[in-house]
Amino acid sequence: MNGNKALIEEIKAIYGQTEHKAYVRSFGCQLNVSDGEKIKGVLSGMGFTFTDDEREADLIILNTCAVRESAEDRVFGIVGSMKKLKEENPSLIIGIAGCMTAQEHIAEKIKRSYPQVDIVLGTSAINGLPALLLDCLRGKKFGADIAEYDDFSAAVPQIRESSFKASVPIMFGCNNFCTYCIVPYVRGRERSRRPEDIIAEVRELAASGYKEIMLLGQNVNSYGNDLGGEMSFPQLLRELNAIEGNFIIRFMSSHPKDASRELIDTIFECEKVAKHLHLPVQSGSSDVLRRMNRRYTAEKYLETVDYIYSRDPDFSLTTDLIVGFPDETDEDFQATLDIIRRVKFDNIYSFIYSKRSGTKAAEMPDAVSDETKSRRMRELLEAQREISSEHYKRFIGRRMRVLADDVSKKRRGFLTGKSSEFIIVEFEGDESLIGQFVDVEITDAMNWAVVGKIVQTNG
Ligand code: SAM
Ligand code: SF4
Ligand code: F3S
Repeated sequence: MNGNKALIEEIKAIYGQTEHKAYVRSFGCQLNVSDGEKIKGVLSGMGFTFTDDEREADLIILNTCAVRESAEDRVFGIVGSMKKLKEENPSLIIGIAGCMTAQEHIAEKIKRSYPQVDIVLGTSAINGLPALLLDCLRGKKFGADIAEYDDFSAAVPQIRESSFKASVPIMFGCNNFCTYCIVPYVRGRERSRRPEDIIAEVRELAASGYKEIMLLGQNVNSYGNDLGGEMSFPQLLRELNAIEGNFIIRFMSSHPKDASRELIDTIFECEKVAKHLHLPVQSGSSDVLRRMNRRYTAEKYLETVDYIYSRDPDFSLTTDLIVGFPDETDEDFQATLDIIRRVKFDNIYSFIYSKRSGTKAAEMPDAVSDETKSRRMRELLEAQREISSEHYKRFIGRRMRVLADDVSKKRRGFLTGKSSEFIIVEFEGDESLIGQFVDVEITDAMNWAVVGKIVQTNG
């Protein structure tokens, strides 16, 4: 960052006293959103202010996701439409950052077919932004920095979107190579942040009043594997739980192959850790799981779930599912329906398989039609709707601790928030409660949320 000081001063001198605005939009997972906050942090250091209207911007950065084709198509659509903005304002600078840039064929396509793009910024090159921007301001037509920097420390400044919810990446990259997934190719191998940096960051967030800390990693359970046994994820949770303050700790994602009893015991043991686990199963068929290279069977997954329910039968679980993996049979799909009925997830995030070039699954034959895949998706969602409607009833009559998040878009005079169990809770309340914990007694349940009355506010 220090190496950037002179560049930043030069950029500030070029803009002088004129206000310069940036529009930064992030797509994809929360790790990418967190990177977007760092991009904003670096831009703020150069004197940029921010706008939600791209027509007002002097600089536009699209921080992209490559996980599914639809995500990429969306970005190409937006970049296409920005050609007009550039014609209207030739000094506008357009940059593409994030996971799409790490695929060579995509970076090539951007350069070849989208001349309105001035800058391409790789996933670990946020600190390279000042140099690229300066080149551009000096008249260079196109600049790209997709180098892999290992400086991924907290040294990058960050402008957080929320004043009470904060994401804290604890590791970057992924070693798992699930056969459908592009992430290991665009984010590189697993790198854990130093525990003392994470602890210091959480301490600072808690001291400045943050109420929800979300620890992020593609597989948080392998946190510390590259730190020579110095700290494991359950140990880290215990350290963070000991930090003083009125806050809740969440984390995602947990790979089921590494979700140990120690992890589960730690969740129950630590009062600040949310009583919820996001445990992506992807499929209920052990054959599909083998071909996905998930390295657990449906039976093994259910053993973990049974252990969790033996400790608390009402524990809240959510999951990710892929339908239409290459050559998924009707029996395989039935097994997926069976597992969601057996586990009774509170929520599922389901996706139709999307072929990602460069991954192993992209080479697999696939005789399943798009129509069958869409039909399976509809059936899955319908099955989950029934499960949630029934399962959410267990909360009626209970008290839930909720972090009030926003005003409800569905009911006038109501607020919305998430309970410790990661359930959406709607309740009557004043906007001044947003960002505070409240205890809500649940009176009704729907298939997407529960409704209740505030019985206590807890700051
Ligand atoms: N690392 C996390 C894990 O293993 O659970 C998930 C990361 S990924 C960004 C989020 C979800 O996207 C995955 O759990 C999977 O369900 C889905 N996904 C990944 N690749 C996909 C693909 N090619 N097609 C459809 N869904 C995909
Ligand atoms: Fe992708 Fe699998 Fe890594 Fe998750 S664990 S990011 S699904 S390769
Ligand atoms: Fe997408 Fe990259 Fe996240 S591919 S899901 S933004 S790690």
